[in-house]
Formats: sequence, C-alpha cells, structure tokens
Amino acid sequence: MTRSVITVEAERSYDVVIGSSWQGEFLPLVSDRSRCAVITTQTLKDSLGDFGLGDLESGDCEFIYCVIPDGEEGKSPQVLLNLWNWLAAAGLTRSDLVVGIGGGAVTDIAGFVAATYLRGVDWIAIPTSVAGAVDAAIGGKTGANLDYGKNLIGSFHSPIKVIIDLAWFTTLSDRDFAAGLAEVVKCGFIRDAKILDLLKNQTLASVRSNASLVEELVTRAVAVKASVVGSDFKEGFEREILNYGHTFGHAVESHSRYSLRHGECVAIGMAFMAHLQLSLGLISSDIHALHFEILSGIGLPTQYQGGDWLEMKAIMSRDKKARGHALRFVTITELGVTDRLTDVAQDVLVATYEKVCP
Ligand code: GLY
Repeated sequence: MTRSVITVEAERSYDVVIGSSWQGEFLPLVSDRSRCAVITTQTLKDSLGDFGLGDLESGDCEFIYCVIPDGEEGKSPQVLLNLWNWLAAAGLTRSDLVVGIGGGAVTDIAGFVAATYLRGVDWIAIPTSVAGAVDAAIGGKTGANLDYGKNLIGSFHSPIKVIIDLAWFTTLSDRDFAAGLAEVVKCGFIRDAKILDLLKNQTLASVRSNASLVEELVTRAVAVKASVVGSDFKEGFEREILNYGHTFGHAVESHSRYSLRHGECVAIGMAFMAHLQLSLGLISSDIHALHFEILSGIGLPTQYQGGDWLEMKAIMSRDKKARGHALRFVTITELGVTDRLTDVAQDVLVATYEKVCP
C-alpha cells in the first residue's frame, strides 16, 4: 500500500493522507495536546475498545471517548447537546482536539461540534467508510439533522487533517461498500473519466478483492473533491457539480424515509440524469449506456419502486439547488464536463421519472 497525500486548498490548507495505519498518522498530531475528544459510534467502540490509543505512547494527551448512536441517529440535536456538554465537562480547551472516527454521519457531527464548541477548535476526520472517505470527510461541510430534514443546521469548518486508512473498508458490508462507490462513480462522470475506465467490466466482488484498484479509485475521487472544494469552498457555483445525480437522489432518499443508503439514492439519481440528458440530446447513447453498465456492474440500483411524480417533484423543489419554483439539475455534456439545467418541460420530466420508477 502506498501512502499518498492530497492537499485541499480551501478555507485553510490541509492534507488528506491515503494509505494504511491511521494510528501512525494520528498520534504525532496529538502528542502536544492535553486532551483529545474521540467521537465515534457504539458499534465501532464495541468492536475496537479504545482503538489501541490507550496503549500507544502519545505524550500526556488524555483521550475522552464520546460514543454516539450509529448512522443518522447520531446527528440529532440531542446528541449534539450531549457532545457539547461532554466536551465542556472534560474541560476541553481551544488548544485541544476533536477527532471523528466513523462513517459520514460521525465526521459530519464531529466537525460541527468542533466548529461550534468554544467557537471553533481543531478537528481531524478519520473516515471508516468509502462514502465518508471520498465525500463526507473532505471539504469542510459539517452538520446535524432536524426533524424536518438532513443537515438543516451546519457550518463550513475544515479539519486540520483527514486520515484514510483503507484497512477500515474490509469491515464494511457489501451493501455499504457499493453505496460508497456511487460517489466515486459520480466523480468519474463529473471530472475524472479514468475512474469510469477503471470500473468498466468490474463487479463489486472484483473491486473489493483488488486493493490497489480500491486505492486508486479512492485517491482519484478524493483528488476530484479536493480540486472542486478548493475552487469553490462555500458552494457559490462550481461545488454544486458534486451534486450530480443528487437532486432526484435526495428525493428518493427522503421519500424512502432513509431506508436506502445515500449512495444507492445517488445511483438512482444518476440513472435519472442519464435518461433525462439522453432525451434532451445532451449526452450520447454511449454515455447514457455507460451509466447503467457501471452502476449495475457494481451492484447499485438504477430504479426505485415507490413514490409518485408529484410527491417526488415536491421534494425536489425543496432541494438546496432549486431556484424559486424551477427545478435545477447538474448535468454533464461530455465525460468530465458539467453544466446546469433549468426549465425542463414537465412531460420530459414525467417520462424520465417513469423510466426510473416504472
Ligand atoms: N457532498 C457534497 C459536497 O460536499 O459539496
């Protein structure tokens, strides 16, 4: 396993280190801190205990473990309040550190706690899922959920480092691994077509069993995200391209009441875009077919059984990219070339919806 470093030049400059042995990368960063709050999930803490941190030499740093529920439940306002209180009770100061070890939900809330406690302390993201590594942990978006929806509160607060240890991915179920790959595929369509070449003719099993392929895919996807957030940290325009497939995908996610993984919804959303763009003559039939070849090859869904068009449209109208009442989509015109689309005729949208939700 090689060690690669990708620097994100956003609100501040920080490194994303991809390789193995996260402890080896992490411990030098805590050796001169008095306290480090480790935010993680019950499942990871049950299986890993103190992650080996207690046994390792780390100067005088005291580790405080803040264990939160798995998944989106760990991003509730009550959990947020508990975390703030735990940090205050432990006497964490501005020179101390927060670290999130877990999937996207953990790094989202750890980053938000770090952004808000004492008006901002340093934090490190140690993503343990593919989706967390290639998307959630990179780019400084942090947040928590309200009853009315996901990530309705949040802040931009970059970590001081992101440490991606690919060994974590062996612990993922096939379903979670594939869901994470959806964001990798998205990076292929919006920026780096080599990702699509690498995934052509692959199955989920063939990807999972090829460590150097996983490493290259993750490294390429991180490079895409780093470059996009480096050019538009606060999502003025360019960063929106990271939402390719997400407009319809978010509608599926919300409609399914989060019973599908985010990446599965993004895969369905990219299938929606493939059909929409083909019917408008924006992409060739080859690019249309490539969406299905790759997504289906690695076991991701391209259809959704549920919802009706008016419900889905209402949810899409609340999308953060919507302007007024007009739906707005990120599109591709060629592999790696993006654009935006508004004012799509209703009958075209309905016909597209019927292909994806037959
Ligand atoms: N997940 C999309 C973004 O970070 O902008």
